[in-house]
Amino acid sequence: MKLIILGPPGSGKGTVSERLAKDFNLLHISVGDLLRKEEKKKTELGKEIKSYIDKGNLVPHQMAVDIAKKAIGKKKNFIFDGFPRSVDQARSIEELDIDAVIYLDVQEKEVIKRLSGRLLDPVTGKTYHRQYLPPPKGIEKRLVHRKDDTPKVIKERFKVYHRETEPVIMYYQKKGILKKIDGDGKPEEVYERIRKAVIKIR
Ligand code: AP5
Ligand code: MG
Repeated sequence: MKLIILGPPGSGKGTVSERLAKDFNLLHISVGDLLRKEEKKKTELGKEIKSYIDKGNLVPHQMAVDIAKKAIGKKKNFIFDGFPRSVDQARSIEELDIDAVIYLDVQEKEVIKRLSGRLLDPVTGKTYHRQYLPPPKGIEKRLVHRKDDTPKVIKERFKVYHRETEPVIMYYQKKGILKKIDGDGKPEEVYERIRKAVIKIR
């Protein structure tokens, strides 16, 4: 099964993909996570990546496509999280024959709440939320915020989302493979809606 999950910043793409990957035996490919991993190495490439992410801009088209394609390797069961993020990126993976695109529909007001309370565990890579998805006891001290989760950068990420990524929704709708899912509600409720939709795809 070849899936894509699309949605505004903070809509829950990562949270949902992590569980889908486990339940349906899919490789979870978050281009954002892969870029942050490269950034941490502090290589020349890492420094370049940082300059885009810190401003809330997309990294160059070819860089994102190369990272995504390399990550799949020969795998036939995967979920792309936050990729493609532009119609050009979507066109460049036509040959992959994606089965379905899950679009997480969440109001901007709600995702801002989600982003401002997000906590990351640098040890396991897991994401929590101060209020909505509290971390297990004993690890609170090591949790960090993402650098692009500041009000100024969030604003820019939304601008980029409306301009570059929203047209991707229409692109896949025209192909007849878009599954719009109501992303409002508790993490468990949202996940259940998606799980049911994915079972039908299989
Ligand atoms: P990326 O890391 O993909 O960021 P994003 O798209 O802005 O999305 P987020 O990861 O912030 O949110 P999410 O939807 O995964 O939500 P999460 O599950 O964490 O990209 C970062 C940057 O990398 C981009 O700005 C760009 O520079 C670059 N980049 C990435 N891909 C690229 C590409 N293809 N091309 C070019 N550049 C690219 O959830 C958020 C919070 O909400 C968490 O705290 C979570 O616990 C909580 N939560 C989740 N679900 C719920 C729920 N139902 N109710 C309440 N809280 C919830
Ligand atoms: Mg994410």
